[in-house]
Amino acid sequence: MGHLVITRKQYADGFEYIEVCNDAARAKIALQGAHLFHYERRDALPLLWVSGASAFKEGEAIRGGVPLCWPWFGRHMSDPSLPQHGFARTAMFECFDVREDANGSTLCFRLCSTPQTLQQFPYAFELHYRVHIGVTLRMELQTYNTGDAPFEVTQALHTYIALSDIGNIHVNGLEGKPYLDALTQELRFQNGAIRIDQEVDRIYYEVDEAIEVVDAARRICIESGGSASAVVWNPWIAKCARMSAMEPEGYKTMLCVESANACDDARVIAPGHSHTLRALICTTH
Ligand code: BG6
Repeated sequence: MGHLVITRKQYADGFEYIEVCNDAARAKIALQGAHLFHYERRDALPLLWVSGASAFKEGEAIRGGVPLCWPWFGRHMSDPSLPQHGFARTAMFECFDVREDANGSTLCFRLCSTPQTLQQFPYAFELHYRVHIGVTLRMELQTYNTGDAPFEVTQALHTYIALSDIGNIHVNGLEGKPYLDALTQELRFQNGAIRIDQEVDRIYYEVDEAIEVVDAARRICIESGGSASAVVWNPWIAKCARMSAMEPEGYKTMLCVESANACDDARVIAPGHSHTLRALICTTH
């Protein structure tokens, strides 16, 4: 890659992020949560949706971009007082390496277990997150078990895709797949492409091919690895109105398609081993 500029920046209250600008794309990643909240290929519109009401504030997850849900997805199984989607998205990561190759730049982030994390998740771990900013966006979340007991994780790369309008889109790649409807707790099967005209909150299983969001002027293709589940979520009108950091009309221009290890797709990691959840996203016109 010819040109690469990496700048550490911060908002007025000290919320820090890294801006990456190379020949292929521009991106912004907050140190809190290693949270990618902007990715824009040079010849394309921004890929990721971010709420205009999102606070860039310590302790609050950014509403948009790609929050990391880890080490559990959704509500904690046994303790409802613990944060939804785990603690990684509001934890401070360290950026410990930046690599360049012919296709772009890869930033490597790390989060390690501490006495505080052990109170919520009683296992020793190292979580490594590699974000590749190029013509494609690649994310790899690798969980190492550095302790002496096996542990289980559920997780997601909770990608908020920016849309022209929710009424314009459909989603391919999940036809015929079983899904848990999180609104009714029913197990159903996907009939044809997904179109959204109401609240949708689903965990798809047996996901084994790329998922494609077809918008009016572009197609967004999400290929996952180390994952057999995917979450498709849009809060629609009523939930949007009650959610934090959401504008009333926010639901119209976003759809979450999340590469996941959710529910039955939980992964057990043995001591000394690791598991990597991946997502590769590309857009075509
Ligand atoms: C999705 C869940 O992954 O995340 C939804 O399936 C949830 O049920 C959504 O509402 C947003 O969660 P949060 O914690 O960021 O408001």
